Amino acid sequence: CMKWARLSFGCEALDKCTQGGIVTRGITEICGVAGSGKTQLLLQLSLMSQLPLEFGGLGAGVAFICTEHAFPSKRLHELSKTFTQKYPSININYLAQVHVQQIHNSEQLLKCCAEHLPPLMASERIRLIIIDSVAAVFRTYSDFIQRARDMRKLANCLLNLGDRYNCAVICVNQVTSISKKQSEIPCLGLAWSHLGRTRLRISKVPKQIKYDDKLLTVRKLEIIYSPETPIAYAEFLITGEGIVN
Ligand code: GTP
Repeated sequence: CMKWARLSFGCEALDKCTQGGIVTRGITEICGVAGSGKTQLLLQLSLMSQLPLEFGGLGAGVAFICTEHAFPSKRLHELSKTFTQKYPSININYLAQVHVQQIHNSEQLLKCCAEHLPPLMASERIRLIIIDSVAAVFRTYSDFIQRARDMRKLANCLLNLGDRYNCAVICVNQVTSISKKQSEIPCLGLAWSHLGRTRLRISKVPKQIKYDDKLLTVRKLEIIYSPETPIAYAEFLITGEGIVN
C-alpha cells in the first residue's frame, strides 16, 4: 500500500490550515477570481515540489499545463533565485524540472494528458501535475453532456497518473457570482465538482499589511471541502519572494 505524501506550501499558515499541504491523492481544485493569487501559489508549489521530503517537498519536478496565459517563466525564475538563497545546502536546477505545456482547447488538453503526460512521467521524475486552468477550456462548451464526458475523461487520466506516481494533481478553476450579495461559486457545475477530492478557494481580504515598506493586500485560502481536514482558512501575502504569512 502506497503512503500518501503532502506537498508543503512553504508557508506555515497555509500548511497548518491544510494539515500539511496538498495531498498526493485525488484532484485538488484551487478556485478564485482573476488576480486572487492562484498562479503565484502554483509557482511556489512548483518549486516546493522539488525540495527533498524533509523540507516539505516531494523530491520531484512538475508538469505545468497552461491553458489561459503564457507561462510566467520570468516570475518563476525570480522565485527560483529566492529558493536557491533560502535553501543553500540543496543543489537543484529548479527551472529544468518544470515541464511546461501550452494548451489552447479541451481537445489539446485531453490529448496532452492521455498521450503526452504518460511518457513524460515515465521518463522524468514528476510528482506534481498542474492545470492552470480547467475553466478556460471547458467554459466554452454549449453541449453540457459532452462537457461532462470530457471532464470525466480528463479526471480519469489525471487520477490514473496520480495513483501510479503518487503525485499531487492541482486543477485551477474560475469562479462566478450569481448576484453581488452571494459569494463566488466555482465554475463548471456539479459535473466537475464531484470529480475533485479537495476544493480550496483563494480570495482577497479587504485589508492591507505593511511588508518591507510596501502595503500588500491580504489574501485568504479557505478549505471549501476536504475529506480529512476541517473547514478552515488562513491568511497570506504575496511578496516579491513568494507566499508568506
Ligand atoms: P488569473 O490568472 O488572472 O486568474 O489570476 P491569479 O489568481 O492567477 O492571480 P496571480 O497569481 O497571477 O496574481 C495575483 C497577484 O499576485 C497580483 O495581483 C500581484 O499582486 C501579485 N503578483 C503577480 N506577479 C507578481 C510578481 O512578479 N511580483 C510580486 N511581488 N507580486 C506579483
